[in-house]
Amino acid sequence: MGVLSRIGVALDSDLLERFDRFIAKLGYTNRSEAFRDLIRDRLVTEQTASPGATVVGTVTLIYDHQSHGVTEKLTELQHAHHELVVSTSHAHLDHDSCLEVLIVHGKAAQVEQFAGRLIGLKGVQHGRLVMTVAQPASGDPHHRNRKPHTHKH
Ligand code: NI
Repeated sequence: MGVLSRIGVALDSDLLERFDRFIAKLGYTNRSEAFRDLIRDRLVTEQTASPGATVVGTVTLIYDHQSHGVTEKLTELQHAHHELVVSTSHAHLDHDSCLEVLIVHGKAAQVEQFAGRLIGLKGVQHGRLVMTVAQPASGDPHHRNRKPHTHKH
């Protein structure tokens, strides 16, 4: 970890109460850790908002495999953009519904466009793209190096 800086934050007491209730619900026992995570999350959003940023992420899709042509179109699109797809996992949820999760990487703009096309396919009932970065600039500096992790998180 880098050098710790202590800061004082002036907050409206109502806002702080709401924040405390919110983080308690998420299971935080440490307010500082909750602040750090919120800041990191916002900074990752900022990093991934840049079209040229290299991002990693997941595309989650729910679709009905019996919907005409959807399975073929999903496969076709993934082959057409194979450079963006790291891996795909599929689960047959019930008789009709399929869940497919793609791990994607590439430039943010390309990943977003690709995810948009998958999610927008006729027969895809719900989809969501989550983008993040492998090395958040804001994070613990210890995690910025590329050495393999020898410790547990
Ligand atoms: Ni299936």
